[in-house]
Amino acid sequence: MCGIIGIVGNEAVAPLLLDGLKRLEYRGYDSAGIATVFDGQLERRRAEGKLRNLEAVVADQPLSGTIGIGHTRWATHGRPTVNNAHPHATAKVSLVHNGIVENYKELKAELAGKGVVFETETDTEVVVQMISAYLDEGLAPKEAAFETLQRLEGAFALAIVFAGHGNLMIGARKGSPLAVGYGEEGMYLGSDALALAPLTNRLSYLEEGDWVVLSRDSVEIYEENGEAVERAVVQSAVSGAMIGKGQYRHFMQKEIFEQPAVIGDTLHTFYNPETGRITLPEFPFDLTSIPRITVIGCGSASLAGWTAKYWLEQEAAQLVEIDIASEFRYREAPMPEGGVSLFISQSGETSDTLAALHYAKSRGQKIVSVVNVPESAIARESDMVLPTLAGPEIGVASTKAFITQLTVLACLSLAIGRAKGVLTEEREAELSRALSEVPARVSEILNHDQAIRSIAVDVAEARDVLYLARGNMYPIALEGALKLKEISYIHAEGYAAGEMKHGPIALIDENVPIIACAPSGPLLEKTISNLQEAHARGGQVILISDAEGLAKAGDIARHAIEIPAIDPFVAPILYTIPIQLLAYHTAVLKGTDVDQPRNLAKSVTVE
Ligand code: AGP
Repeated sequence: MCGIIGIVGNEAVAPLLLDGLKRLEYRGYDSAGIATVFDGQLERRRAEGKLRNLEAVVADQPLSGTIGIGHTRWATHGRPTVNNAHPHATAKVSLVHNGIVENYKELKAELAGKGVVFETETDTEVVVQMISAYLDEGLAPKEAAFETLQRLEGAFALAIVFAGHGNLMIGARKGSPLAVGYGEEGMYLGSDALALAPLTNRLSYLEEGDWVVLSRDSVEIYEENGEAVERAVVQSAVSGAMIGKGQYRHFMQKEIFEQPAVIGDTLHTFYNPETGRITLPEFPFDLTSIPRITVIGCGSASLAGWTAKYWLEQEAAQLVEIDIASEFRYREAPMPEGGVSLFISQSGETSDTLAALHYAKSRGQKIVSVVNVPESAIARESDMVLPTLAGPEIGVASTKAFITQLTVLACLSLAIGRAKGVLTEEREAELSRALSEVPARVSEILNHDQAIRSIAVDVAEARDVLYLARGNMYPIALEGALKLKEISYIHAEGYAAGEMKHGPIALIDENVPIIACAPSGPLLEKTISNLQEAHARGGQVILISDAEGLAKAGDIARHAIEIPAIDPFVAPILYTIPIQLLAYHTAVLKGTDVDQPRNLAKSVTVE
């Protein structure tokens, strides 16, 4: 989704805005722009496409001023053209927006009826025209902004500057995140801590409905009703150093190879090497008598949750329901008294997941979240946060975030199993040891990188790809399909192998790679017979298994990827590695924008 940065400072602001936008690129965008106030005048520069295009425009037509706003746009209303790029402006006011103004048509008609002529196809222009209209009526900037905010429905994070006001910036947050940065040399607004990291690490995260008035040396935060309010100032842990790719070609590749380290970091939050036991922080509720855990997320996060369903049922005999957030938030699902809802989200800002959290909370559920950004909205609204320590994930495709989500969820399953007395000490020790060995095993599997790259050559030729698995590997098949389609643009579907004969087998011919995740275990033989049926119809089987599984499969596999023999409990974590590498190398062969795939955003903060 869109990225916002705003600066009220003492030095040339244009370079700082462009640097901030560079740090927001990972969110995905299709145009960008900046605006400054200088000598009382508003000036802006905008460009389609990548940031380098905007940098060229600014180099050609420099902007002066020490106060300004910047934006990377992920188009929702209106094509990704220069004219639709933010900042939007009139002669009196300019602003940038992340979100969707749901009643923009009604407001646009109202303003047009007063003679306002609109220049763009965007919902955002309604906001800047409305503020401008209030200014024309003689309201001061703060009042004009406040009156406008009352009229808006939907989701917005805004940063607003005014002609003739070189020391005033206004921000607002409703449904889309916005942070206030406190500096020695100025004050700031940003979509996230990463954008503001080089400027300050002292932040306040605006709450729903908050708006804020900033000058170089003051911050006044107000609630939706205009009452002044204090918000906590937190120290962000995000580094100011520009996050680089190091020796890697893409952020996604770097983040895949960071996984042994970040799994270890995340594990060490919960795993005690002395006792060999997993210990979670004290929960504010009894783990032994949870009537049901409802697991909610979007995309890969929901698939991590799906994997947790198998672990919680099998190791903790825990009743679990799972749903994707965009469905759950509207289902009006009845929820058990004393139930727990578990929200999984890398960004902690995904709009559908946050809305689902609000629904569950309104139904009296205890809220537990697994997030990678501890200061995010989802974390702030949870009764208990279990952090993943993946560090900032720049690639749009979730890799190290997904695998550390799995790591946390595996630990949670063991903790609940032990608390309920379902897990024997011996079994708990076995599983904890298996978990403790995961970072080393992942390193081993990453050594197959070049072999997997050669297999990707076949996959890159395909039009359709099927991923098959059973049991706790089924969500990993779904994740493999999601990874492939979102970065290589090849159509892929994940299926429970047992579902093949109920339809998907009709898709299979010699042009269809079948990627199967099938470790040794009680479901192996059944999966192999599904693969034999696919093979008999020309399907090109790529089998990911251990030595025993590959031996049992015989010659039905066109390609084989061997995984070390491991406890089935941790198989979902380890089998994620080859499917990530396969998707990555296929995308590189296809020449797509691996880190910022078309149409995708890193954090989906609009529904
Ligand atoms: C997965 O590769 C995608 N990046 C996407 O499915 C992502 O997992 C989903 O949008 C959820 O994002 P969140 O974890 O930040 O809530």
